[in-house]
Amino acid sequence: MRAPVAVVILAAGKGTRMRSAQPKVLQPLAGRSLLSHVLDTALALGPEQVHVVYGHGGQEVAAAHADYPVHWVEQPEQLGTGHAVACALPQIPDDHRVLVLYGDVPLVTPATLEPLVDGHGLELLAARVPDPTGYGRVIRDAAGGVVAIVEEKDADPGQRGVDEINTGLMAAPAADLRRWMAALSADNAQGEYYLTDAVAAAVADGVPVLARFTADPGEASGINDLVQLAEVEQAYQRREARRLLRGGLRLVAPERFTLRGQVRFGTDCAIDPDCTLEGEVALGDNVHIAQGTVLRDCVVEDGARLGPYTVIEQARIGPGCRIGPFAHLRPGTVLEEGARVGNFVETKAARLGPGAKANHLTYVGDAEVGARANLGAGTITCNYDGARKHRTRIGDDAFIGSGSQLVAPVQVGDRATIGAGTTLTSDAPADALTVARSRARTIPGWQHPGLTGRRGPPDDSDATPASDGAKEE
Ligand code: UD1
Ligand code: CA
Repeated sequence: MRAPVAVVILAAGKGTRMRSAQPKVLQPLAGRSLLSHVLDTALALGPEQVHVVYGHGGQEVAAAHADYPVHWVEQPEQLGTGHAVACALPQIPDDHRVLVLYGDVPLVTPATLEPLVDGHGLELLAARVPDPTGYGRVIRDAAGGVVAIVEEKDADPGQRGVDEINTGLMAAPAADLRRWMAALSADNAQGEYYLTDAVAAAVADGVPVLARFTADPGEASGINDLVQLAEVEQAYQRREARRLLRGGLRLVAPERFTLRGQVRFGTDCAIDPDCTLEGEVALGDNVHIAQGTVLRDCVVEDGARLGPYTVIEQARIGPGCRIGPFAHLRPGTVLEEGARVGNFVETKAARLGPGAKANHLTYVGDAEVGARANLGAGTITCNYDGARKHRTRIGDDAFIGSGSQLVAPVQVGDRATIGAGTTLTSDAPADALTVARSRARTIPGWQHPGLTGRRGPPDDSDATPASDGAKEE
């Protein structure tokens, strides 16, 4: 039977090298904090306790993760990783096994950590890297047993040549850690209490020490500056893209796809380059998403086609809908089966019935649009009077002529036609044409001031054939 587990996440560092006003663990990876990734990994291990050691900006860090069932432990001064762990130990019973994670090492997976948690004695996660600069080195004796970790700043030239590094993540029994942490000294190059000194202490106590290796050294990458954050973001996105491809989501250019949340999908969906999915996105079967499209918290049902450069937020797209290119569907948009929203159309809190169309240059806000209704180019629902929002209702099979403004609250009946250019300020009845438009007047011979001296040829002129003068583009 496995011992009860306490995870301690070290997150007190300032992160000076990020050159940001934000605490480091609040920096975003795939749209959410570094710490939230580590918390999810910790919780996936099913531990009895999770402790997060915070320091700089602590209140902000705790407030940003208030939903997580964890204990927040303040480390008032950053005296080293050993001191940070010691701050959490008073709350951890002796029979627990402690796993130490870092708030700035977000890619490590539960599968990699599982053996450390299930193991005995002190187990640390090591990696062999081409350039060990900056890391603690794993020092072994002639028989190959791990005897110590030496920090780079304390290492002699021979030790610096070792390419086996400590990732910093380790597990040990709480009772042993308590004893080792109480005996730490800060007599080293950095004047800090090193968690890594636990290794030599374990060897001295005869507690078994084991270094395990990560399958993928990238998993243990830590983040100290924006270069490393960008590299880890890229590694994360490539890993997610491979996972989605294996699951059957066709990413046309996996290296140009961004996921900041979760996506569920049916069969034969395809996503062109440069798309971003955020929050919770659900795609049915046969959904095609063209280049440059951004989806946030939305449902797209079977067979829908999203044209290039479309932005959809908190919306539901019914089966077989056609959207974009260049459409913006804002929160509360619901498109029923086969509806169409074309280029330069914006919708908000609007329901378009089955087969309804708004194909060009239109704003539909706070509106109900009936089945098969057609909104002509440039239709605008005037939903806001400067103080309140009002609703527009358009019946089934209604036809709204181009360039019309529907001044809400207003209703258009079923099968009603609104003449092009109408400003509708009262309800339009069903089965009738409503048009509000002043007649065009022509004032013959009127001359635009800017055209003085550029009159057309006199009627009796034979210099230019009349047909040329009348020509228009
Ligand atoms: C540490 C390890 C080193 C390892 C490296 C891997 C020690 C002494 N050294 O070095 O062997 O190769 O990680 O990245 O442990 N933190 C606190 N409170 C503190 C100090 C640190 O919470 O007082 C947190 C930091 O926020 C960070 C983590 O602990 O998340 C590691 O601290 P950091 O100073 O970056 O350790 P390194 O010097 O890189
Ligand atoms: Ca340090």
